[in-house]
Amino acid sequence: MAFNIAIDGPAGAGKSTIAKKVAKELSYIYVDTGAMYRAMALFFLREGIAAEDETAIIQACDRINVTLSNENAEQQVFLNGENVNGWIRTEEVGTMASRISIYGKVREKLTQLQREMACTTDLIMDGRDIGTCVLPKAQIKIYLTASVETRGKRRFLELQAKGEDCELEKICEDIRKRDEQDMNREISPLRQAEDAVLIDSSCLTIEEVVEKILELVRRCSSH
Ligand code: DC
Repeated sequence: MAFNIAIDGPAGAGKSTIAKKVAKELSYIYVDTGAMYRAMALFFLREGIAAEDETAIIQACDRINVTLSNENAEQQVFLNGENVNGWIRTEEVGTMASRISIYGKVREKLTQLQREMACTTDLIMDGRDIGTCVLPKAQIKIYLTASVETRGKRRFLELQAKGEDCELEKICEDIRKRDEQDMNREISPLRQAEDAVLIDSSCLTIEEVVEKILELVRRCSSH
């Protein structure tokens, strides 16, 4: 049976940075499920389909094929055969991904693909519903969080380093809005699984969080 590590948590908690490092240490595949929701969001944006238009979204789902591949240890996301890695990291796509992730048809499509991958491959998968819904039997589950202020400040510094114009208060406001959306949707809302280990990264370095997870893996493997 494949060994699966599930990491859930709110936007900006550092899931992908940490999951990538843990995956490298263990030589596991890293699966970023947010990127899959972002690829679907990009399709709807390009087609001019509004997030509220449930009928159009459900109909369009049958025309969307999202696949992943791993190249040079980096996940590549394909939307109907096109590599869209370069298109999915904007705020616009992130917000749209959160808005369309409320629909059952969207979630079913991606959940199925995620489960198929986890069945045969040792992997670390991050998202919002991995421990609670996608991989309820994952050997290790982590709920990684941090305060809104910490997440906002990290994002602010990231954007500043890229030379982008930004305002800390506005970033914190966007984070609060995204939390609210992801935690309060009807289907598979973001929440900590009962058997998940809670890690608050507000006062921890990336290395400290990675070490905590590796320690959990070592303990689990020695049983
Ligand atoms: O992790 P991210 O910011 O790339 O995710 C974008 C959005 O996709 C997130 O706000 C909610 C949705 N999402 C989800 O509903 N379930 C997942 N497993 C991953 C992401």
